[in-house]
Amino acid sequence: MHSDILIIGAGVAGLYTALKLAPRPVTIVTARPLGKGGATPWAQGGLAAAVGENDTPNLHFSDTMQAGAGLVDPEAAHILALGGPEAVEDLLRLGVEFDRDENGKMKLGREAAHCRDRIVHATGDQAGAAIMTALIKAARTAEHITIIERIVVEDLLIDDDGVVGGALVYDVAAGEREAYEAGETVMATGGLGGLYAVTTNPTPAQGHGLAFAARAGAMIRDPEFVQFHPTALDIGLDPAPLATEALRGDGAVLVNRDGKPFMSTYHRDADLAPRDIVARAVEAEIKAGRGAFLDARDAIGVKFPDAFPTVFASCQAAKIDPRTELMPVAPAAHYHMGGVETDLDGKTSVDGLWAVGEVASTGVHGANRLASNSLLEAIVFGARIADQLRDSEIDMPEDAGAPGDRMELSPRPAPAKEMMQLRKAMTEHCALIRNHEGLADLLDLIHEMHESPAMTSGFKSALVTAELIAQGALAREESRGGHFRSDFPNKDDEPFHTEIAATQIYDDE
Ligand code: SIN
Repeated sequence: MHSDILIIGAGVAGLYTALKLAPRPVTIVTARPLGKGGATPWAQGGLAAAVGENDTPNLHFSDTMQAGAGLVDPEAAHILALGGPEAVEDLLRLGVEFDRDENGKMKLGREAAHCRDRIVHATGDQAGAAIMTALIKAARTAEHITIIERIVVEDLLIDDDGVVGGALVYDVAAGEREAYEAGETVMATGGLGGLYAVTTNPTPAQGHGLAFAARAGAMIRDPEFVQFHPTALDIGLDPAPLATEALRGDGAVLVNRDGKPFMSTYHRDADLAPRDIVARAVEAEIKAGRGAFLDARDAIGVKFPDAFPTVFASCQAAKIDPRTELMPVAPAAHYHMGGVETDLDGKTSVDGLWAVGEVASTGVHGANRLASNSLLEAIVFGARIADQLRDSEIDMPEDAGAPGDRMELSPRPAPAKEMMQLRKAMTEHCALIRNHEGLADLLDLIHEMHESPAMTSGFKSALVTAELIAQGALAREESRGGHFRSDFPNKDDEPFHTEIAATQIYDDE
């Protein structure tokens, strides 16, 4: 298989980038049938954009900078905030029906650390699904897009000069490995919550893309910054269903088992404090034995089923009625803020390789992503990649091949028992609160696991990404945003980025 441009991943980032490339031909590969995998369809909150009457991109920019705790790139945040209104317009053109009030104006929700009501949403808590439906429809009918489903990428192809030239893939239906050669490769591979025992992400989201990029020599930035959502429903499911922050935006409060609201003892913004603070507060209440629950009875009450149909369905499945009962919650791995370092046009440090969406580190999230900025980032930066590649001259690679040992490993998914052991260790040692001893133990385990007789190419990638996160967390001897070290509880005066290159990881394998 040859194509000028190969996009790996078919969530909002991959599909939107592909659509914007028109009329240039592009191939998208996806491990699952289109729309059946990835985290985009599960996005509840919506998309942040300064479209309200009393809002401006400048205010959105300031909130993004503030949330990121000193590590947001101002230029990237400007691009993001300025791109919000246009992104909403474009999604409307593509047929996304955002919720409107009785006067036909778009309804805007409030989420933590936004100074304005700024979140556009669809069918209450189903923005991600609505956006995916529109993008899939457009992509399926676009003549310039070829979509190939059930193709699992195992690694990137690299030529002798270190230029990426496509991907080594496993075609699930044919049961065969193949080289998909491409002049330019765009990674839109999503996140890595599946590396943790408690996550709101689909469990196959194990950060393989980060490992591919690292192995190809791309610089990885701030991998230690994993965002934990404070309110996943604690109802014994894996993944844990999300209870969107928009519930608190509509007035729901976090209470302990005695029904006592607790957030005002942790932060002046109480239930709408920055996400990392709320997540650590929820964890502290649970660890102290007081439990943590969302109380939406007064604030939302009978409106719950229409306003939050997805959360309502999850509650019903657990025999909880959120109109009259408390919802038990716990923090869960939700979003990766670090990633493959890119410039403002989505280009990585390796020729032939681009990254967009959650796998990328464009600089907009810093140490703590502002709620609902992720769908917007995928759209704004996906369009910028397309602008670079649409009319560019593209050379096909010569002699690009898979690096190292991939061809000797089984293409099967990670072995279940070992993967669960890794996920539990990540949750124990590299989640909301970290320290040197725990991270060192985690790294020892990861190194031991590299010798597992049950090794597969997917498991190898999961281990490499877990190691990137743990190495970043060990190197960052301070606490900032989503990264808290109990042995270094203060923030350094000078913000700095962690940058990890492949040699720091693969030499240890
Ligand atoms: C939520 O709905 O609470 C999640 C929104 C986000 O992660 O941006």
